[in-house]
Amino acid sequence: MASKLREKLEAIKSKALADLSAIQSTAQSESFRVKYLGRKGELAEALKGIKDLPASERPEVGQFANRVKRDLETAFQDRRKAVGSSNARIFIDITQPGVKIGRGHLHLVTQAIREIERIFLNIGFVRRRYPEVETDYYAFEALNMPSEHPARDEWETFFLQNPKSKTKSNQKIVLTPHTSSGQVREMENHPLPIRMMNISKCYRRQIDINHVPMFHQFEGLVVDQGIQFVHLKGVLEYFCREFFGEKRKIRLRPFHFRFTEPSFEVDVTCGLCGGKGCRYCKQGWSELGGAGMVHPNVLRAGGQDSKRVTGFAFGWGVERCYLMKEGLLIPDLRMFYQNDLRFLEQF
Ligand code: FA5
Repeated sequence: MASKLREKLEAIKSKALADLSAIQSTAQSESFRVKYLGRKGELAEALKGIKDLPASERPEVGQFANRVKRDLETAFQDRRKAVGSSNARIFIDITQPGVKIGRGHLHLVTQAIREIERIFLNIGFVRRRYPEVETDYYAFEALNMPSEHPARDEWETFFLQNPKSKTKSNQKIVLTPHTSSGQVREMENHPLPIRMMNISKCYRRQIDINHVPMFHQFEGLVVDQGIQFVHLKGVLEYFCREFFGEKRKIRLRPFHFRFTEPSFEVDVTCGLCGGKGCRYCKQGWSELGGAGMVHPNVLRAGGQDSKRVTGFAFGWGVERCYLMKEGLLIPDLRMFYQNDLRFLEQF
């Protein structure tokens, strides 16, 4: 009898200890207490058997039973404490102010692109995107720059290997060095009147204080009957007023591009030094981009009758323009792409 009861107590103990180690919550520990240590629990039920033992065996089994009970109670208290303290860590005080999660924002180039786009959409331009990986034909040849023409050197172009065509120059592939490569594509794909605003990435082998190898340009192209230089000037002045404010001056400097005639470079008074001359601008003016009246050869490449229609085009750097914004004082164009959060978070 006595040995049977001892075995039963042993079995309860080892099952209880196994259950105890699986307890993870206060609710589970309470169920455990009721199941094993409660008034009607397994241990209490087993202990009732002591009174049926012969008197000589009772003290020894009674002592054994007390030891089992004590061990289980101690183990239970320890486990309850451990579970209680780990549970305490996940209790949330809902009256505490929350932890603020840092919010990101659009990169300053994206902000600039959106602003430029808005300014031109307001006067009837249509936003376009043309390929960054372009054929030699659209990047140069269709723009009145035949292969081997020295004017191409200005664009410091990355050429890609195109295993399919090694013969014809117009099938060479380039990373487009300017958004002007969208001009002939636009004329081929859209009827007159054309009012294109192509904003895309461009690539050149250049890096210094105001050049980066990957940058963005925005290219305006307007083609229709009766388009004159005065329209070009009006659009450029409108953009500069909207983007830089009333105080800044722009100037048109005669220049040579093969795809416009006449051609100009457009400069704005430097926003870093107020036009006095500094490390960035040298003489008080910063170049924003080129502009001019579309060359008849380019109109013809786009399928237009160059005797009947005329057009103007301009292509400016997004980063250069943003850097020149009133009051920003960004000293070096390379900072746009250095991914330094101390810089980027300021915009
Ligand atoms: C052109 O790319 C002509 N396609 C612009 C044009 C369009 C002329 C339509 C006439 C008609 P240019 O090489 O000057 O021109 O570049 C224009 C502008 O792009 C520059 O003034 C500058 O603002 C920006 N730019 C050029 N190269 C870089 C560079 N490596 N990093 C940052 N900005 C650049």
